[in-house]
Amino acid sequence: MSGNPAIHHDLADLRRAAEDLARQAGEITLRYFGQRLAPESKSDGTPVTRADREAETALREGILSRYPDHGVLGEEFGATNEGARVRWIVDPIDGTRSFIRGVPLYGVLIGIEIDGDPAVGVAHFPALEETVSAAAGRGCLWNGRPARVSTVDRLEDALLLTTDPEVLAAGPYGSGYARLQSSVRYARTWGDCYGHALVATGRAEIMIDPILAAWDAAPLLTIVTEAGGSYTTATGEPSIHGGSGVSSNGLLHPAALDALSASV
Ligand code: IPD
Ligand code: CA
Ligand code: CA
Repeated sequence: MSGNPAIHHDLADLRRAAEDLARQAGEITLRYFGQRLAPESKSDGTPVTRADREAETALREGILSRYPDHGVLGEEFGATNEGARVRWIVDPIDGTRSFIRGVPLYGVLIGIEIDGDPAVGVAHFPALEETVSAAAGRGCLWNGRPARVSTVDRLEDALLLTTDPEVLAAGPYGSGYARLQSSVRYARTWGDCYGHALVATGRAEIMIDPILAAWDAAPLLTIVTEAGGSYTTATGEPSIHGGSGVSSNGLLHPAALDALSASV
């Protein structure tokens, strides 16, 4: 619940609604998954397909039919009911590059903020039949069972993830990432939102994405922290609005941030 008595929300209900809507949107994406698609290029150079647009339309309609006074911010169609105290931030397909190649590591993302604070997060992976969801103070679930980060406390035993090492190498964290990569046991590119889900479910220790919009990050802070880990920007702010995202099992967060800060 929000601490403010004027706005009293049952987070369990909101989490259930977000899970239902993410699954419905996921069904839409599956109709197109593995099909020959004609992706368009957006003004920022990122790809988009009719599946992204149809899934976001369904999310928006589902949210606003249940909660007409809630706000919605989506990657493809922008903001509705700006200024609302409860805001749903959605990415209908995170990992569009995976999606259009028939790779199942893409997810439907929903984060709900109440008075600006992250309160609910859902990352649903339709092609993997996995759902990770969390509500503030109520824990993180992975397909309905409690999710927990790993207990790995040495970099030399850790699995480090990112989406695109070339993007990291070209940006301000390139040298820090390279140092971190040489300190860990393995580094892989099981990226986009799935990398953060792997951290929240104890299958990886650190996931770094140097470029994230609010819709890319919306559910991640709630999911990772409720699983016992840490989620911050690359400069250490616990926020989904800072333009980058680092998830970890908590134990290795200082080491990850130290390495990244050494490069700026
Ligand atoms: C992308 C993913 C990726 C991030 C990119 C985003 P999309 O989202 O979140 O991890 O590095 O900046 O554009 O385009 O697949 O929804
Ligand atoms: Ca995205
Ligand atoms: Ca997207």
